[in-house]
Parts: sequence; C-alpha cells; structure tokens
Amino acid sequence: MKVVVTGGGGFLGSHLCEALLYRGDTVWCLDNFCTGAPKNVTHLLPEPRFRLVSCDVTEPFDVPGPVHAVAHLASPASPPDYHRLPLETLSVGSRGTENALRFALRRGARFLLASTSEAYGDPEVHPQPEDYWGHVNPVGPRSVYDEAKRYAEALTTAYRRSLGANTGIVRIFNTYGPRMRPHDGRVVSTFLRQALAERPLTVFGDGSQTRSFCYVDDLVRGLTAMLDSCSEGPVNLGNPGEFTVRELADLVLKVTGSPSSVEYRPLPVDDPCRRRPVIDRARAELGWSPTVPLEEGLRRTVAWSRSRAADRPATADPDRKPVQV
Ligand SMILES: NC(=O)c1ccc[n+]([C@@H]2O[C@H](COP(=O)([O-])OP(=O)(O)OC[C@H]3O[C@@H](n4cnc5c(N)ncnc54)[C@H](O)[C@@H]3O)[C@@H](O)[C@H]2O)c1
Repeated sequence: MKVVVTGGGGFLGSHLCEALLYRGDTVWCLDNFCTGAPKNVTHLLPEPRFRLVSCDVTEPFDVPGPVHAVAHLASPASPPDYHRLPLETLSVGSRGTENALRFALRRGARFLLASTSEAYGDPEVHPQPEDYWGHVNPVGPRSVYDEAKRYAEALTTAYRRSLGANTGIVRIFNTYGPRMRPHDGRVVSTFLRQALAERPLTVFGDGSQTRSFCYVDDLVRGLTAMLDSCSEGPVNLGNPGEFTVRELADLVLKVTGSPSSVEYRPLPVDDPCRRRPVIDRARAELGWSPTVPLEEGLRRTVAWSRSRAADRPATADPDRKPVQV
C-alpha cells in the first residue's frame, strides 16, 4: 500500500513512516520542517520505498501514482511551537486539512486525521470518552491549536457525510519517546532534559495536575490500526494510566538516577487539571491497547537521549518558559 504522511518529518510522523516502511508499505513523507527536522527521517532515505518531499500542505499538493491512504499529522503540536506559529497552526489545521482531504478524496484514499486530546480542553468530565464535547476557551492561549483541531475534525466529518470520503479521526493523548525535541516544552522532554543536565525539574502549580503518557511505539500501532480500519472515529489513542506531574518528576529522577531537585512555578493559564483517555472504543474497534508501562518507556527514552547527548544545546535557559503539556 502507498501512504502519504503529512508531517512525516516530525516526532510521531517519523515513527509512523518507519513502521509503515518496515511492514512493506511505500511512504511519501511531506513536511515543511517548521517544527520537524529532516534528520528524523534521513535514516530512511536509502530505502527505495521512501520519498521525502519538502512542501507546505497549506498549498495544494500532489503525489504521482496511486495512493491508498493519507495520514495527516502536519501541525505544530507543542505549546512553544503553536505560540510561536499561531497563524500557521490555524492555517494547517484548516487549509492544510482541506488540501489533504481533497487529495485523499480525489485518489479514493483512506484519510486519517491526527487530532488531539486538546479537543477536550480543560475537561469537566473525567476520564474523557469520545462523546464528551469538551470545554475549550476559544480565545485562550491554547485556542489556535485546540480550535484548529476541532475545525479539522468538523471538516473531516463533513467530507465523510457530504462527499462520502473514507475518513477516520484519532484523538491522540500525550505521547513520548525517542526523537522528542529536548526543548519542545512537553513535560516529559523537559523533565528528562533537566534531569540529565542535573538541573532542577520545574513543576508548574503544585504538581497535582494529572496526565496520561503513551509510549510512541504503542501510539504508532494505534495509528496503523486506524489506517487499516474503516472506523470513522473519533477514537481516543492514549495510555489510560494516570500520573500526577509530581509522580512523573519522581519517576524521571528514579530512571535517570539524577540528583536534581524539584522547583515549583506558577501554573500557566488554561493548563488542564486532568487528562485521561477512555480507550474502550480503540479496544473494540481496533483491538488496540497500549502495552509499554511508563517506567519502561522512560528507560527507553533516556537510553536514546543519552545516545544523543552530544546534540543537546548547551546555551540558554528555556526552563523559564511557563509551558507544559
Ligand atoms: N505528540 C503528541 O503527544 C501529540 C498529542 C496529540 C496530538 N498530536 C498530533 O500529532 C501530530 C504530530 O505531532 P508531533 O508530536 O509529531 O509534532 P511535531 O511538531 O514533531 O510534528 C509535526 C510535523 O508537521 C510538520 N508541519 C507543520 N506544519 C506543516 C505544514 N504546513 N506543511 C507541512 N508540514 C507541516 C512539522 O514540520 C513537523 O514535522 C500533530 O498533528 C499533533 O497535533 C501529537
């Protein structure tokens, strides 16, 4: 099967490209590298079934030959990125999604939208099932991302209902693993970077807010299962294990053996208090559930980070930025 992966040069996209290639698919990776990097996929370039195309999907695009599926992952995804690129985030969620949908429809290809748990905002229902509509501030600091994804979900649904497109929507919860950028502002990458540098771990609020953390291999298995299915979704993909941010900090200190202390900072505006997916639908429709426990996933990520230590920037103090997801 031939799959087009938009945002394939990013953290999740690069793992998806890899998994698809390893199972025998042909993969076209489309990326403008506004938050991703070619180095995430350069190891795949010698593979003749892999193509890397530098392109901005907010402009109409084409790929020669038959295409069986489009996985639309292109979007800035971490708070520092979408704060830096607010208009680009709205544009790729709206125009970019429409271009990807049009392309998939024209080719009779399955279309997969990578949506997000941020569609639930700061949820009033816990844990979050897919039929919860969310609690989102449309003019808050996270709105460019949350509302772009909510619009992308509405557009995808309209293409299915009005035009008969074969679409599926997944709502991805916090995912971590190798190739996360150390300075992407996500809580796992931030804690790992701080612990490995033996600097204080910065916890926002009192650290009692909860998150769920899914290891990237589990998540990618969910994405491929959704690509292969006819499921319309939305389907939550995430690990239902729930940890406080303080518990995560302690686990990172344990896994890294770091002597770092923990420092508390004010909670950012609109920081969700609790996040945990209900994954009954993923189990029923995709036969999917995560298998990698947090401690094991952190160990694998630490091993990768240590092997890449030479790449780590030694300047600036990004810990001052009050962002955490
Ligand atoms: N990582 C997570 O925990 C998580 C959670 C929820 C949802 N998601 C979704 O999964 C997708 C991938 O996230 P990620 O963590 O890999 O982020 P990422 O920033 O590493 O990857 C996104 C990729 O999209 C590319 N991109 C952005 N705008 C583009 C455009 N206009 N044209 C072409 N390429 C463009 C970027 O350069 C980057 O390579 C995103 O859509 C994100 O919203 C991720």
